[in-house]
Order: sequence, then C-alpha cells, then structure tokens
Amino acid sequence: MGGVVFFKTTIFGALREFYISKLGCEVWLEQPGICIVKHGNQLIGICKSNKADADMLLTFFYETRDEVDRKAIELGYSEGAKYNPDYNIYHFYTNDPEGRRIEIQAFEDKINPYKSGSEILKQRRSYREFTDQEVGQETLSRIFDECRYSPTSRNSESYYYVVITNQEYLAKIAKIRDGATVPIGRAKMAIAVCSDPEKTKRVQADADIAATYLLLAIENNNLGGCWITDLDRTEIKEMLEIPQNHYICMITPIGYTTEIKPVPERRESIDFVKYVK
Ligand SMILES: Cc1cc2nc3c(=O)[nH]c(=O)nc-3n(C[C@H](O)[C@H](O)[C@H](O)COP(=O)(O)O)c2cc1C
Repeated sequence: MGGVVFFKTTIFGALREFYISKLGCEVWLEQPGICIVKHGNQLIGICKSNKADADMLLTFFYETRDEVDRKAIELGYSEGAKYNPDYNIYHFYTNDPEGRRIEIQAFEDKINPYKSGSEILKQRRSYREFTDQEVGQETLSRIFDECRYSPTSRNSESYYYVVITNQEYLAKIAKIRDGATVPIGRAKMAIAVCSDPEKTKRVQADADIAATYLLLAIENNNLGGCWITDLDRTEIKEMLEIPQNHYICMITPIGYTTEIKPVPERRESIDFVKYVK
C-alpha cells in the first residue's frame, strides 16, 4: 500500500528539474509524460498537459489487482477497475465525500521501495512460492547496498552473501531437509548468508544480523524471501565453494512472490518486556 499525489503541469521539464534539483527529490518512476518523484515518504506525480492543475489527484496504490477490485466493492464503485496499457496500471477513479478526485490503482511495472520503516518491520512475512520473473541486477544491488549497514562485532564486517542461480544446486539444496527446504527449489535464485571466523569471534551473531538485514531489504524491495535454517553443512559448503570453517547461517530463496499475506498475527500486547528499576 502507498499513495501518490498527482497534478498536471504545462512546464513538465522545468517542474521535474525543480523538484529534483531544488527540493532534493529522487525519481521514483518515469513513464511517458509522467514523472513520480520521492522525497522521504512523499510521492509526487507530475503529468505533462496543456493545462496546469491547482487541485491534485490523490492516488492510493495497492500491490495487486485483487486488492484494487476489493476496494472497488468496498467503495461501491460498480463499473469495475480497468487496465490502462499507457501506464501499465490497473485502476479506477472515484471521489471522496467532498467530491475530491481519488484514484485507486495497482502498478504493474516493478516499483521501487516506498514503505516506511514501521511498515517493513510489521509487514515482513516468509514467502515460499515464487514466479519465474528474474530479479534484476539493479534490484539485487540495491538490496546488497542496504545490507552494507548490518552491524557486526567490533565492526569486523565478517559476513558475506553467496548468490545461487544454478538450478541444479537449488534443486539439491531443496531436497536436504524435506519440507523445510522445499521453498529453495521454487525460486530462480537463493542467497546464503555466511560469516568468516578469521574476522570475528562472533560468527553466529554477525551472520544472524546480516540475514535479518537481508530479509528486511528483500521486503523493502517488494520481493519475497524466507529464513531457511540448519544448512551449515559440509555438502553445501563443497557445492558453493565456501570454506569448511565458515558459518552458513541460513539460505533464503528470493523472488517475486505469488502469495498475498496479511500482517502476521503476533502477541496482542507488548508483554515481552521486563522493566528493572
Ligand atoms: C531461525 C529461523 C529458522 C527458520 N527455518 C525455516 C525453515 O527451515 N523452513 C521454512 O520454511 N521456514 C523457516 N522459518 C520461517 C518461520 O517459519 C517463520 O518466520 C514463522 O513461521 C513466522 O512467519 P512469518 O515469517 O511469515 O512472519 C524460519 C524462521 C526463523 C527465524
């Protein structure tokens, strides 16, 4: 879920430049005649037109067509959402109770991160089913760039990631622990999180945190992953050319997922905190 405030402009190029250069926005998505810029959690969409809007269009976007259809029913919009090939979106327009124009949509292009820190922490789930769509190098690099900030004991930076795309290896790992490892065989790619004992005395903690960072970065980049454990094994190290004394904390499959998962059910209250005065 997220939102964009859209408005039309007659000076598209100059306005785009103004928001990027003068206000420090980043380009979030570019389409013919449209530029969506991002400033923190603010997404602003500017659309080329022969008339400038003083009013804005409030666009609420969701991950999937199903969610857009559900919103259409909830909002009593009977005509049904439509696919718009110009922008590769699935959407419909409606009004708020005072008549302001609202758009409900799903982007069908791959979209860049937009979630708040709180949303990433609360919405992350384990995903075990994946589409065939490959994860591009740009997305992968963004994920690893976010993982650079994982803390380590004495800042040893003892962790590292091994990206596995060899389908034969993925299929072999998927069979190692029956049901528990099966999701690795359903993705086109998996990542092993490792650490080097020659760099740290805290091999397990460093790798555990690096694995947690990786799963949060995967969530932030709208992909799915799942912590799969008990894979610190001789045969896997031989296959992946990981030294035998190194530690494999976990392996996660990674990919675009077909699963829609709600926010997980967790403890009702913050009853796991003990205050000592
Ligand atoms: C240390 C650890 C080990 C896990 N091992 C596996 C595993 O071997 N296979 C698997 O499918 N899921 C595994 N999981 C995923 C958990 O089942 C999952 O995190 C838990 O059910 C909560 O669901 P959620 O991640 O969707 O919130 C593991 C998770 C953790 C933290």
